[in-house]
Amino acid sequence: IRLFIDTANVDEIKSANELGVISGVTTNPSLIAREGRDFVEVVREITAIVDGPVSAEAVSTEAGPMIAEAEELAAIHPNIVVKIPMNAEGLKAVNVLAQKGIKTNVTLIFSANQALLAALAGATYASPFVGRLDDIGHDGLELIKEIAKIYELHGLKTQIISASIRHPLHVTQSALAGAHIATVPYKVLQQMLKHPLTDLGIEQFLADWARVPKK
Ligand code: E4P
Repeated sequence: IRLFIDTANVDEIKSANELGVISGVTTNPSLIAREGRDFVEVVREITAIVDGPVSAEAVSTEAGPMIAEAEELAAIHPNIVVKIPMNAEGLKAVNVLAQKGIKTNVTLIFSANQALLAALAGATYASPFVGRLDDIGHDGLELIKEIAKIYELHGLKTQIISASIRHPLHVTQSALAGAHIATVPYKVLQQMLKHPLTDLGIEQFLADWARVPKK
């Protein structure tokens, strides 16, 4: 498993990148809107921080304009991956973009068949939304398991990005379920590295060390 960070906030990205555990970034229009800054400027800055795939989402609703948008985004930096929504227009665009050598991340995947179609169309990545499924009483992790099984059984090369991660357990479960990548909000990354027994242990070691006679 690899970890991407799911944010468009450059401070969070810098700080996460320093930990040395992040190998890519995912954004979406909502995350970009939260920053209140120019889209292309933000994306360009992100590519300068993280040396790995950076997903930037196309917002056109038809394949032609989606492709044009994707070409513009891909021209920003070789690491750009164009996020394309999972629908008929999106699939058409993914197919053309794959032939042009432009990497895609098919987003808003909520079923195994959608993931299958994304892979067959030539998507580089597929993003099933675990948290949003859990939110409506479905089992997001079960979907990751199904997709991982289908891709493996049929030799499909598309990489699964477990997205819409809400808490650290989602990351553990995504890794166990066979996701290639989990894209985590900054807060979840912080939660992953914390354990109360670690903090207590450090405190105790330092307190004991202070009692060691020093020359
Ligand atoms: C990332 O690819 C997705 O856009 C993101 O994980 C969605 O997360 P949310 O369901 O918390 O908005």
